[in-house]
Amino acid sequence: MDAASEGDRGGLRMENIIEIKGLVKRFGDKTAVDGLDLSVRKGELFGFLGPNGAGKTTTLRCVSTLTGFDSGSIVVAGFDLLKNPAEAKSRMGVIQQQVSLDKDLTIRENMISHAMYHDIGKAERNKRIKELSDFFGLEEYLDKPVDSLSGGWKKRAAIVCTMLHHPEVLFLDEPTSGLDINARRLLWDVIKNLNDDGTTIILTTHYIEEAEALCDRVGIIDKGKIIALDDPQSLCERVGKVAVECHSGGKTDYRYFKSREEANTYASSLEGDVSIRATNLEDVFVEMTGKSVGGQK
Ligand SMILES: Nc1ncnc2c1ncn2[C@@H]1O[C@H](COP(=O)(O)OP(=O)(O)OP(=O)(O)O)[C@@H](O)[C@H]1O
Ligand SMILES: [Mg+2]
Repeated sequence: MDAASEGDRGGLRMENIIEIKGLVKRFGDKTAVDGLDLSVRKGELFGFLGPNGAGKTTTLRCVSTLTGFDSGSIVVAGFDLLKNPAEAKSRMGVIQQQVSLDKDLTIRENMISHAMYHDIGKAERNKRIKELSDFFGLEEYLDKPVDSLSGGWKKRAAIVCTMLHHPEVLFLDEPTSGLDINARRLLWDVIKNLNDDGTTIILTTHYIEEAEALCDRVGIIDKGKIIALDDPQSLCERVGKVAVECHSGGKTDYRYFKSREEANTYASSLEGDVSIRATNLEDVFVEMTGKSVGGQK
């Protein structure tokens, strides 16, 4: 499905909660985002994959109003960021890669301070803190100082802070980087639960398995542009859904085929240690960006 036809599925026009057209963001001579177009549907869990420096964080920062942009247009929940930034902002929540909780405060005090920033009254605030802390299993940590929590729990607390004002869209920049496997899986459940509850989620990740496990659609971004955008399975089919790996002479060669038969024919012509498997998003990423995940090949 290409960018022009996205939004239509099964003959139904689906509502886009984010519409980005021709987004450009420069830092001096460097063009970090280079004419990026993207529509995200209401209720979608959307993932950005891309090499270091591709423009993922910058795009998220532009859309979530943390930084300005040089040209293009961004509409969130029907509000143009240039015309109605406050309206758009009130519908969004952002978790940046480095969680920004105030270390001098307890977790509850951090939540109260976020609620005050969004003008949420005391009764509503306390109800919401209770509701969300129950949902995230944070009750026992509420009155503890920020630094007594591990990275994974800090991330959850930051998500609660961000969810207090009922944002319709949540941006998560590398939500699970640096977390251990258990914390990552717990956070995946948190992200899925929020999405099931109707929150549109846009995340960036370097973990292919995270994109495969969570995302309805994935956009691969390289040099400030989206170079591929689809659901994970369709992206794999685009490259060829059957992969043949041949290990020979200390090197591994990868080839992709549309069918098992074609893959078998090719594999039988090879010498060395040959294996046939399903293509995954990591293959797609390497094929499309010419780089291994997170760096140069
Ligand atoms: N504040 C800034 N000043 C100057 N250049 C910047 C700034 N922020 C980002 N850039 C540059 O813009 C480009 C895109 O950076 P960005 O942080 O958006 O990439 P990314 O895809 O999030 O990468 P990573 O996977 O490493 O987080 C990079 O070349 C980066 O060096
Ligand atoms: Mg980044």
